[in-house]
Amino acid sequence: MAGGQSVGRTVAIAPSVLSADLARLADAVAAIEAAGADYVHLDVMDGRFVPNITFGIPVVEAVAAATRLPLDVHLMIVEPERYIERFVAAGAAILTVQVEATTHLHRTVQQIREAGAAAGVALNPATPLTALEEILPFVDLILVMSVNPGFGGQSFIPTSLRKIERLRQMRDERGLRALIEVDGGIKASNIRRVVEAGADVIVAGSAVFTPDRSVAEALAQLRAALE
Ligand code: DX5
Ligand code: ZN
Repeated sequence: MAGGQSVGRTVAIAPSVLSADLARLADAVAAIEAAGADYVHLDVMDGRFVPNITFGIPVVEAVAAATRLPLDVHLMIVEPERYIERFVAAGAAILTVQVEATTHLHRTVQQIREAGAAAGVALNPATPLTALEEILPFVDLILVMSVNPGFGGQSFIPTSLRKIERLRQMRDERGLRALIEVDGGIKASNIRRVVEAGADVIVAGSAVFTPDRSVAEALAQLRAALE
């Protein structure tokens, strides 16, 4: 993409409420909806796949009732196949599992689609793209983790850019349509590079929910960085 041109037109932004005030989750979701976010990104953590524990099915259900935005639910849990139907029934429009967390990934992806959601698979920073080789034609979204999952507010791992570029090339060469989502450490200073590398959907947590500025200002700043 030529420098100086807008790269933002088709990029979706999925704010992660992980960095929001969880006691005021409905307000946080209303604020991102009013500010023109495309999805709500919900980070479910189990204290086993990742060191942190966040929230689960009842919270997803409560958020679904509080917004018209589609819910982009990122499961950082072991054996996600045990909970697929319940997360979809709770309102997940996209349900993403970590490739490292499920033994029979193809079956899990089918299970997500049969339950009625779009199926995503996420890769940790150390997981190579070759892990996608066989599953790519069956998924709706690939989530490239640009930090190690578990916490908001970490720094973007710079080698993720090359990984996104290679994934974009792999997807396009095979004529597939899976969206490329990138999650972790994205802010106004690096969002453009992530989109230029090939991302279709950008997750941002601490850059959107920050004490320095309103959610609307923060989202406008991210969008402006793409113009
Ligand atoms: C990390 C989560 C991310 C996180 C992003 O484990 O998957 O979605 O909330 O937060 P920032 O944008 O602060 O890195
Ligand atoms: Zn996430």
